[in-house]
Amino acid sequence: MRFVVRLGTDCNPTFGGKSPEILTVLDTLVLSPDEVCGIVVGPNCGDPYNPLDNWNVTFPNVPQPAPVPPIPPKPGSPTLRVLHLSDTHYDAHYKAGSNANCGEPLCCRQDDGVPANTSDGAGKFGDYRNCDTPLWTLENMLQKLSAEKDTFDFIYWTGDLPAHDVWNQTRQDQLNILQHMVSLMLKYFPGKPVFPSLGNHEGAPVNSFPPPYITGKYSISWLYDALAQSWSNWLPKDVIALVQKGAYYTVSPHPGFRIISLNTNYCNSGNWWMLINTTDPTGELTWLIKTLQSAENAGEKVHILGHIPPGDQGCLKAWSWNYYRVVNRYQNIIAGQFYGHTHYDSFQVFYDETTLSKPVGVAYTAPSVTSYPGLNMGYRFYTVDGVYKGSSYQVLDHETFFLNLAKANVEGKITWEFEYSAKATYKMKSLYPSDWDNLIKVMMANQTVLETYNRLYFKSVHSGACDYTCRYARLCETRSARSSDPSLCKDLKV
Ligand SMILES: *[C@@H]1O[C@H](CO)[C@@H](O)[C@H](O)[C@H]1NC(C)=O
Ligand SMILES: *[C@@H]1O[C@H](CO)[C@@H](O)[C@H](O)[C@H]1NC(C)=O
Ligand SMILES: *[C@@H]1O[C@H](CO)[C@@H](O)[C@H](O)[C@H]1NC(C)=O
Ligand SMILES: *[C@@H]1O[C@H](CO)[C@@H](O)[C@H](O)[C@H]1NC(C)=O
Ligand SMILES: *[C@@H]1O[C@H](CO)[C@@H](O)[C@H](O)[C@H]1NC(C)=O
Ligand SMILES: [Zn+2]
Ligand SMILES: [Zn+2]
Repeated sequence: MRFVVRLGTDCNPTFGGKSPEILTVLDTLVLSPDEVCGIVVGPNCGDPYNPLDNWNVTFPNVPQPAPVPPIPPKPGSPTLRVLHLSDTHYDAHYKAGSNANCGEPLCCRQDDGVPANTSDGAGKFGDYRNCDTPLWTLENMLQKLSAEKDTFDFIYWTGDLPAHDVWNQTRQDQLNILQHMVSLMLKYFPGKPVFPSLGNHEGAPVNSFPPPYITGKYSISWLYDALAQSWSNWLPKDVIALVQKGAYYTVSPHPGFRIISLNTNYCNSGNWWMLINTTDPTGELTWLIKTLQSAENAGEKVHILGHIPPGDQGCLKAWSWNYYRVVNRYQNIIAGQFYGHTHYDSFQVFYDETTLSKPVGVAYTAPSVTSYPGLNMGYRFYTVDGVYKGSSYQVLDHETFFLNLAKANVEGKITWEFEYSAKATYKMKSLYPSDWDNLIKVMMANQTVLETYNRLYFKSVHSGACDYTCRYARLCETRSARSSDPSLCKDLKV
């Protein structure tokens, strides 16, 4: 029980009151509380050793091809444009003027009542306090993007659809939000390919994603069956069985190009079902390797999508380290990685495992649509080298748009503004892993650039001023593409 309290305070402040599931997991558990802490909380437990936490995925017996840096496309080559939407967190109960200081994890809702002081009232289009996205703001964004839909080719949609009222979400509530969001995507983007990934908030309760060997009343099939049905609007029939099993899939939208969508809830330390057995849940990473090996054999380039960035503190160490090895092994073909979850606009560079100094990959964490907590709202476009024979499918630039919520609420109207282009803002030559590694070096040397990054990290909600702690946090995160690895930050010059 001590462990449950720890989890409640260190990992996830919001899952109290849902104890039957946690108790079921603890009943099945073969670990001591210290071992559990090592898995879930990481090195902060003092003794992170755990026998079950140390597992290695097996790679096929095919030698790794010599690393080949991406070749820049010839000027005028065709490009793909990809819209990335993440963490919409749509709140069906949002009410303008309701109490935004309600003392709960989520406010600005009908049930919160009207505050005595109007300055405590929820903004018309959203609010910087603990509030999620109102339907009218979400639809305004979708309408704008719908009008531009001929300017982009695909949508990467990386999860977290429900609001943060995590103390009061039933399975039916979650399914309703899923269906509502899917119907909005179909309405505003008819015929447009959408490639979704599953967020951690889609579970009921939040973060709860039992592996397939959990059957009966706790089985996750209530969600995965519904996902399979919803996602079949965009995905081919032959991937549906895998979505039902594990909520991940792969598709090839063009010859030579493959998308792999992962279910990162199997690396989420808040997913207490993982404590029963953390070893490659549902065989997802084994499947990932098999899929990448076939892609390598077929000469394909690959984009990987998911919700939780694999370097996130909340991604279980063994999963995260194995994923890092996968990115190293398949660095020649993994041309892009797209994540969400943190709500902050950031990136993480992967390095070679031997020296941790040669960049081999980069993962983008897109800004959230929701303003939760204390952010402006945003979305992202990537310009990608494709579609022609021999395209690298590397990201050539990205552009981020945002909604200045304070301004919108004062003006009484919504204006989505261009926020920045990565290439222009950071004066980058290209957006290859080596360019991002170089940007980290520039940010270590030049505080102005770091403060620009820090401003954009929070979607321009403040100036970006950054003290030592802040600088260390920003820089260390960019180098941390695997979790629980202090050595990645040991030679940072802050
Ligand atoms: C996994 O691989 C690492 C690095 O090669 C090794 O140190 C570790 O002992 C391996 N763990 C297991 C359980 O085989
Ligand atoms: C309302 O709240 C604002 C901001 O917290 C405060 O400055 C103001 O004095 C409050 N007004 C009343 C009548 O309490
Ligand atoms: C929980 O949700 C239901 C239905 O959405 C609502 O009627 C009820 O007031 C909520 N309870 C709390 C404690 O928020
Ligand atoms: C944990 O899962 C792995 C992979 O499915 C399996 O090989 C192993 O036997 C399981 N361990 C336990 C203790 O159940
Ligand atoms: C830091 O970067 C800014 C913005 O690119 C540039 O104007 C400035 O000259 C740089 N400062 C130094 C000392 O290089
Ligand atoms: Zn989220
Ligand atoms: Zn999330």
